[in-house]
Amino acid sequence: MEGSAKALLAVVFAVAALLELGLVGANFQDQCDITWEPQNAQMTEGGNHLTLSLVSNSSGCMLRTKKQFIYGSVSTRIQLVKGNSAGTVTTYYTSSIGEKHDEIDFEFLGNETGQPYTLHTNVFADGVGEREMQFKPWFDPTDGFHNYTIFWNPCMIVWFVDSIPIRVFRNHSGVPFPTSRPMYAFSSIWAAEDWATQGGRVKTDWTKAPFVAEYRDIGLNVCECSGSASSCADGCATGDQWYAAPELCKLSDRQLHQMKSVQLGYTIYNYCDDARAKGRPVPPECNMDQY
Ligand SMILES: *[C@@H]1O[C@H](CO)[C@@H](O)[C@H](O)[C@H]1NC(C)=O
Ligand SMILES: *[C@@H]1O[C@H](CO)[C@@H](O)[C@H](O)[C@H]1NC(C)=O
Ligand SMILES: *[C@@H]1O[C@H](CO)[C@@H](O)[C@H](O)[C@H]1NC(C)=O
Ligand SMILES: *[C@@H]1O[C@H](CO)[C@@H](O)[C@H](O)[C@H]1NC(C)=O
Repeated sequence: MEGSAKALLAVVFAVAALLELGLVGANFQDQCDITWEPQNAQMTEGGNHLTLSLVSNSSGCMLRTKKQFIYGSVSTRIQLVKGNSAGTVTTYYTSSIGEKHDEIDFEFLGNETGQPYTLHTNVFADGVGEREMQFKPWFDPTDGFHNYTIFWNPCMIVWFVDSIPIRVFRNHSGVPFPTSRPMYAFSSIWAAEDWATQGGRVKTDWTKAPFVAEYRDIGLNVCECSGSASSCADGCATGDQWYAAPELCKLSDRQLHQMKSVQLGYTIYNYCDDARAKGRPVPPECNMDQY
C-alpha cells in the first residue's frame, strides 16, 4: 500500500474511533448559545462540561442549540442540583418557535433533601399539550451524570433515561403529532417555588443558592432544518435518513420489556389515568398502543 493511502486509512480509523466515543460534536460551546443570563453559565473542558446556575427567584439560565431540526436524537448527560433543590426546575426539551408550537419535554422538579426528584415528561403538537406523564427516578439523579435522550422520528417520540425507554408517544392517525415545525433543543434552570415541589407547599431555601445543574456530552444527531419551508420538512421525512430505519418504528422486545417495568414501578402521574379517574374526556391515544 502507498504511504499516503496508509496515512489516509489511519485518519479514517482515528475519526471512526472518535465518533464511537461520541467525542465529535460533543461540545456545548460549538453547538449552543446561552439565551438567558449568560453570566450564570460556565463552560470548561473545551466546552464539553457545562454548569447552569439558579441564583435568585428571577435569575436562572437557558441554553439553546444553534441548530434547528426535524427528527433525530438529542442526548445529554446531566447531574441535577444536589441537596435541597425544592422549588427549582431544570428543563431539557425541544421546541418550535411561534404559534401552535410543537414541544417534547423532560423537566426535573426538585425536592427537599432526601426526597425524590420528579421526572416530568410532556408533548405538545399543534399547540396542544396536557399529555403529562411523571416518574419517580429509580436512581439518584443528583449523584453522578445520567443520560437523557429525546428520540423523534415520523413514527414515534421516545424518552430515554440511560438508554432505557420510559415513554413512547406514537404518530397515530387522528392524534396530533409533530411532523413539520423545526425545533431547537433547550435546557434551563429556573425558580418555580409556587408550584414545583409538593404542589408548592415546600419553598426554595434561597440561603442555599446558587443551585447548580451540571452537564456533559451533548449529542445532536438530527436532520438540520431551519425556517419553516415545507420542503425542508419533506427532506427530513425521506426514508434515507438513519432514524427512518424500519426497526426504529417501534421498540424492540427488550426495550418494551424495560419500559413496562419502569412504567409499572415508577409512574406517579399519567394524564390518561387522570382523565379516566376524573371522568373527563379521555384523549384518543390513551386507548391506543404506545410502543
Ligand atoms: C423574589 O425575591 C425578592 C427578594 O427576596 C422578593 O422581594 C420577591 O417578592 C420575590 N418574587 C417572587 C415572584 O417570589
Ligand atoms: C405521521 O403523521 C403524518 C401526519 O398525520 C402522516 O402523514 C404520516 O404518514 C405519519 N407517519 C407515519 C410513519 O406514521
Ligand atoms: C445516551 O443515550 C443514547 C440513547 O441510548 C445514546 O445513543 C448515546 O450514545 C448516549 N450518550 C452518551 C454520552 O452516553
Ligand atoms: C417530593 O417528595 C414527595 C415526598 O416523597 C413526593 O410526594 C413528591 O412527588 C416529590 N416530588 C416533588 C416535585 O414534589
